Amino acid sequence: MCGIVGAVAQRDVADILLTGLQRLEYRGYDSAGMAVLSPAAELQRVRRLGKVEQLANALQQHPMTGGTGIAHTRWATHGQPSEANAHPHQSGSLVVVHNGIIENHAELRRQLEAQGYVFESQTDTEVIAHLIAEQRRQGVELLQAVMVVRKQLTGAYGMAVMDQQLPEQLVVARSGSPLVIGVGIGEHFVASDQLALLPVTQRFAFLEEGDVALLQRHDYQVFDLNDQAVERRVQESTVEHDAGDKGAFRHYMLKEIYEQPHAIRQTLAGRLENGELNLEALGDLSDIEQVQIIACGTSYHAAMTARYWIESLAQLPCNVEIASEFRYRRSVVRPRSLLVTISQSGETADTLAALRLAKEIGYQRTLTICNVPGSSLVRESDVALMTCAGVEVGVASTKAFTTQLVALLLLTAALGRGRGLDVHQQAALTDALQQLPDLIDKTLSMNADIQALAQRFAEKHHALFLGRGSQYPIAMEGALKLKEISYIHAEAYAAGELKHGPLALIDAEMPIIVVAPNNQLVEKLKSNIEEVRARGGELTIFADEAAGLTTSDNVTVLPVTHCDNLIAPIVYTLPLQLLSYHVAVIKGTDVDQPRNLAKSVTVE
Ligand code: G6P
Repeated sequence: MCGIVGAVAQRDVADILLTGLQRLEYRGYDSAGMAVLSPAAELQRVRRLGKVEQLANALQQHPMTGGTGIAHTRWATHGQPSEANAHPHQSGSLVVVHNGIIENHAELRRQLEAQGYVFESQTDTEVIAHLIAEQRRQGVELLQAVMVVRKQLTGAYGMAVMDQQLPEQLVVARSGSPLVIGVGIGEHFVASDQLALLPVTQRFAFLEEGDVALLQRHDYQVFDLNDQAVERRVQESTVEHDAGDKGAFRHYMLKEIYEQPHAIRQTLAGRLENGELNLEALGDLSDIEQVQIIACGTSYHAAMTARYWIESLAQLPCNVEIASEFRYRRSVVRPRSLLVTISQSGETADTLAALRLAKEIGYQRTLTICNVPGSSLVRESDVALMTCAGVEVGVASTKAFTTQLVALLLLTAALGRGRGLDVHQQAALTDALQQLPDLIDKTLSMNADIQALAQRFAEKHHALFLGRGSQYPIAMEGALKLKEISYIHAEAYAAGELKHGPLALIDAEMPIIVVAPNNQLVEKLKSNIEEVRARGGELTIFADEAAGLTTSDNVTVLPVTHCDNLIAPIVYTLPLQLLSYHVAVIKGTDVDQPRNLAKSVTVE
């Protein structure tokens, strides 16, 4: 939700800021802007409606020089996408970029208007600019002004502030929205995500909740919630520099789909070696009696899949809930419960709030499955089981999802020890996991067939996905992918539910996509398929070679390599990812940055 980049350096920073914005565009992309102080301390500000590319074009017309600057790519919350609502927002000599939502902005706006401040935008952010400007007008130093103003704000923010009168300073603050300081030699940077700054530094200090920092060329100081000076350890980044590049692929999404064998190998590395599971890092889970999983979006689908595994293999009761629901209802905490959050980014506002609430209401053991080291969920959970998917740029999650599933199987194995999981089952699980990367590789070879098939979906307005058992959440994930990137309305049903309503929708205009591994439910699924066929529905079935399903009138069967039932949810995710990708490409939508969405949702 909005990307922030800032720099205070001796060299010109406009290009650094622009590259940073391009690498942060996954966070929001409806408008972008930049402000840089020239060597003569003139304030230059350019903002454009649309993607960062529009800003880049504008900067070619109006190049900026100067070593101190801030920039922003926006995902609108308050005020429609427009140039006037784009950041940086200005009040006199002061400019601000902000990520998050100021909940008391209306009241603050009324007070500022009464004081004579004139608003140029409909955003909540503009109140921050005027509030800090008012402190400055009263002679307060910039750092102190930010410290004062943040106490007047309720809601979430990551912000960077620059004042024309102090050309070699940036003040940044974090509360609820991530910010990281990039440490250079004689220069310092700030960004919402280290990815933005990898071209200029590999050394990062992650700000914690409530931190404020003053950045100057040669040093930086961090202060905590109580305005006390604190140290934030500088860490060397392990993220690859070229993680933000598409390479030979046309879209990040396709690149990331193809990276899955590698991402899964990385996630298994050190945890599964020579047929042995090493899960000591998860701690002693022998006293756990129940599991509660919380997540949003694609991560929620991973959680739903895990419920089948945890209940059947570890024989532990497992509840799964969407974070935005969990956080606003009263739930019962059973003793010896393990609270698990799942998140690619580790910054999703609802999941983070749910974790904090869970601790308050009595969950004593928390574990997160997350892809971003140092993220808020990782820092605030007792244990982190990291997925090693590498940076995922495409807004539609692919490799993060399949690595979450791998991590959840590992967690199931750890929970199952001494409970439901006997030696044979454990051996079957480790075998299946070991084969998984190669199976995924094989499944990717379906790409050409799926591409050929995609045309028949591109003209449709609706689609229905069906699965049973642990494939039901995979059908849900398939439907989510299709709607996210091709804007086709798609729903998923547990196939047994068809007769309770969705059958009424079946006609030639409603394509039905089925995931059909060869498991104990396949005969039931075949009956469901016949129910659809008898009503003129057109079916596309991804089926195990041995499932006994063949292509016939209105039924197209695409064979999927045989795999163990345990890992089938991971394998069957692949064809659905590829299908939604190719449909989106045919439709000409913005595959990596679909309309109205953002990758990291750090606002409610
Ligand atoms: C956004 C993204 C989804 C993601 C969801 C949860 O909606 O577009 O791809 O699944 O957030 O994100 P998280 O980082 O918590 O997994």
